[in-house]
Amino acid sequence: MDITPNSNTWFVTGASRGMGRELVEQALARGDRVAATLRRPGQLDDLAARYRDRLWVRALDVTDTAQLRTVVDEAFAAFGRIDVVVSNAGHGVFAAAEDLTDAQIDRMIATNLTGSIQLARAVVPHLRAQGGGRLLQLSSMGGHLAFPAFSLYHTTKWGIEGFFEALAEEVAPFGIDTTLIEPGMVRTGFFDAADRVPVSAPYRGGPADREPIPVSEMTDSQENTIAAVVRAAVSAHPPRRLVLGSDAWHLMTSALRQRLADVESQRANAATADAVPAHR
Ligand SMILES: NC(=O)c1ccc[n+]([C@@H]2O[C@H](COP(=O)([O-])OP(=O)(O)OC[C@H]3O[C@@H](n4cnc5c(N)ncnc54)[C@H](OP(=O)(O)O)[C@@H]3O)[C@@H](O)[C@H]2O)c1
Repeated sequence: MDITPNSNTWFVTGASRGMGRELVEQALARGDRVAATLRRPGQLDDLAARYRDRLWVRALDVTDTAQLRTVVDEAFAAFGRIDVVVSNAGHGVFAAAEDLTDAQIDRMIATNLTGSIQLARAVVPHLRAQGGGRLLQLSSMGGHLAFPAFSLYHTTKWGIEGFFEALAEEVAPFGIDTTLIEPGMVRTGFFDAADRVPVSAPYRGGPADREPIPVSEMTDSQENTIAAVVRAAVSAHPPRRLVLGSDAWHLMTSALRQRLADVESQRANAATADAVPAHR
């Protein structure tokens, strides 16, 4: 394998298109080695032909936990060491919460939340054994705020934020750095691939009946978004969270200020639930 002295080795899920594929292409272009996983491996045949020595490709549906563990083990065995793991696979569902089907709920949780949790659990023992590494999780600005008609997506991103908040502390002593990547709107195939349930009669014309930001108004920020991810991943001290896009920064800071104000306003009332001091 033609490894440059400072090259890194990456493991990526959801590498078929969008930001996952962009990441694979940018990593390969900088001379790195990549274990790329995707549901239909043939979708990377063009890159495999070009980067034969540095690209390792395997089929992986992240909802199949047994397959996920096997592929992770094979990738670490193939490369000996993996420096950066990127949990990217994910999808969206636009629907009023009441209109969601049970199958949509199960699939979304299995892909975005359980798939990400199980990937982290599968790679941590390897990262620990090799003395450290980086684990990057695609979250979203939607891991801090919520739009109507997108409740299930927010469930998974808020959920994975909580998982990583705790995991980060647990694995830091092993030299494992975790980063939650929180992009704003990035024009990818995400919005076309998302499930859409037409709103039922009671919701027509209401908050659940419109998209937060029309795809036509999104900018082509995929390349710059992933360039920022790569810079953070290979930096000396990767941040615990990486906010990407001015839309994300503005909407997240505004939502967090509002939440903080809501919590602060509860101070006196919160104290009414305190235990009565024993000496009284
Ligand atoms: N685009 C945005 O505005 C945005 C903003 C914030 C965060 N994100 C997050 O960024 C990540 C990538 O999204 P994207 O915008 O690049 O979307 P995308 O273009 O739709 O790509 C999604 C990728 O996930 C894969 N995937 C879906 N379900 C999978 C499964 N069960 N197993 C394995 N792979 C699966 C897809 O593979 P197939 O080709 O097989 O379907 C595809 O490769 C997601 O986690 C998303 O939530 C996106």
